[in-house]
Amino acid sequence: MQIRHAAAAAAVVLCISLFLFPSTTHAHNITRILAKHPDFSTFNHYLTVTQLAPEINRRETITVCAVDNAGMADLLSKHLTIGAIKNVLSLHVLLDYFDAKKLHQITDGTALAATMFQATGSAPGSSGFVNITDLKGGKVGFSPQDNGGKVSATFVKSVEAIPYNISVIQISNIFPSSEAEAPAPGPSQTNLTALMSAHGCKVFAETLLANPAEETFQSNIESGLTIFCPGDDAMKSFTPRYKNLSADAKQSLLEFHGMPVYESLSGLRSNNGLTNTLATDGANKYDFTVQNDGTEVTIKTKITTAKIVNTLIDEQPLAIYELNKVLMPEELFKSALPPSPAPAPAPVADAESPNPSKKHRSPPAPAAPSDSPADAPDGDVADQTVDGNGAVKFNFGRFSAVILSLWFVFLQM
Ligand SMILES: *[C@@H]1O[C@H](CO)[C@@H](O)[C@H](O)[C@H]1NC(C)=O
Ligand SMILES: *[C@@H]1O[C@H](CO)[C@@H](O)[C@H](O)[C@H]1NC(C)=O
Ligand SMILES: *[C@@H]1O[C@H](CO)[C@@H](O)[C@H](O)[C@H]1NC(C)=O
Ligand SMILES: *[C@@H]1O[C@H](CO)[C@@H](O)[C@H](O)[C@H]1NC(C)=O
Ligand SMILES: *[C@@H]1O[C@H](CO)[C@@H](O)[C@H](O)[C@H]1NC(C)=O
Repeated sequence: MQIRHAAAAAAVVLCISLFLFPSTTHAHNITRILAKHPDFSTFNHYLTVTQLAPEINRRETITVCAVDNAGMADLLSKHLTIGAIKNVLSLHVLLDYFDAKKLHQITDGTALAATMFQATGSAPGSSGFVNITDLKGGKVGFSPQDNGGKVSATFVKSVEAIPYNISVIQISNIFPSSEAEAPAPGPSQTNLTALMSAHGCKVFAETLLANPAEETFQSNIESGLTIFCPGDDAMKSFTPRYKNLSADAKQSLLEFHGMPVYESLSGLRSNNGLTNTLATDGANKYDFTVQNDGTEVTIKTKITTAKIVNTLIDEQPLAIYELNKVLMPEELFKSALPPSPAPAPAPVADAESPNPSKKHRSPPAPAAPSDSPADAPDGDVADQTVDGNGAVKFNFGRFSAVILSLWFVFLQM
């Protein structure tokens, strides 16, 4: 009897713990770690504001070199842009695990650590590396590579260590780095099309250059912009259909590939749901659904399911991601909608049947002829799966397991 009770109790504990801990266990949460240490509240705040926190949580084997509130006050007194602050702080995240013990036992007394600043691709040359050196008297010095090898900060103490996932240490002060502090080359001056051309989205960039949509994108950078540019192969195979669209529809299609907010990749990974685009305008919803399974992010319209395959830039306030497909808004390609979900209205004038109330305002209306091209559901459409939004999931299986086992124990008692 005793044993049965014990076993049952163990089952309950197991089930409850399964229920309490989500299946995608987060190994660490830098925000929570630092929240226990009020000395680092400013540093912690800026990890959140710059969206570095989710990036840190996503990585394993990482070291965060934190400075106390006084150290942050020195940095903030420089009145850098938020983009520059992000670069400076990302220089303080080492992509390797160094706790107090390891820092004091570095082979040959020196090591070069890549930082998150290096990983963003925006660090020129080797400015994203930090040289760690064991100094005389047991001190440990840090020197960013673009500071001429001069020791610019020293190890103060270990704040928290979870071997070998994350180590949070305190250092004496913020690393000086002219490269990281450089005002992230005036985001509004970023040449979007040049950037896309150089990184696999040349066809999309050229298409954009020949369209007023380019101005829409450019003028939205300052206030936050996320672009999903279809890769060259996707764009090439779509070109015949694109050419078939009216001028207004072309603009809407291009603007459909931009969101008027900045979303980091980690932000996209932790958000699901319907999103407005630059083409959204009154009755023209032109929205899509961002969906993720923890690592992979997909962008869905009723017609297209596209995957993010590459990050071209992810620097507040601008992010550009490459997609493996052109996003086809239902507003422009109604006839390519999979037939199954809309069997209700008899096929009148094919193009007009779904949602007759919510029509385009006249300008972007591609008009029937230009709208119809997509009707033959070719390979592109065939491989798009349409399913519900599936945004909020609740694990009923696990929940009922807990209920059942509690009931089971009750019966045993
Ligand atoms: C370290 O990270 C791994 C992978 O995310 C996780 O399974 C493990 O529990 C973590 N270790 C600790 C001590 O948190
Ligand atoms: C990390 O912790 C903070 C504060 O406790 C919380 O707001 C946030 O949602 C957590 N993030 C994750 C990914 O769990
Ligand atoms: C780091 O800096 C020290 C002192 O300037 C230098 O002697 C050492 O070679 C550097 N280490 C690396 C790995 O670059
Ligand atoms: C941006 O780069 C493109 C080449 O991709 C060039 O044609 C265009 O003139 C540039 N725009 C600006 C504003 O410099
Ligand atoms: C372009 O539109 C015409 C007329 O609507 C249509 O016959 C043709 O199939 C379309 N071409 C493409 C490539 O969609």
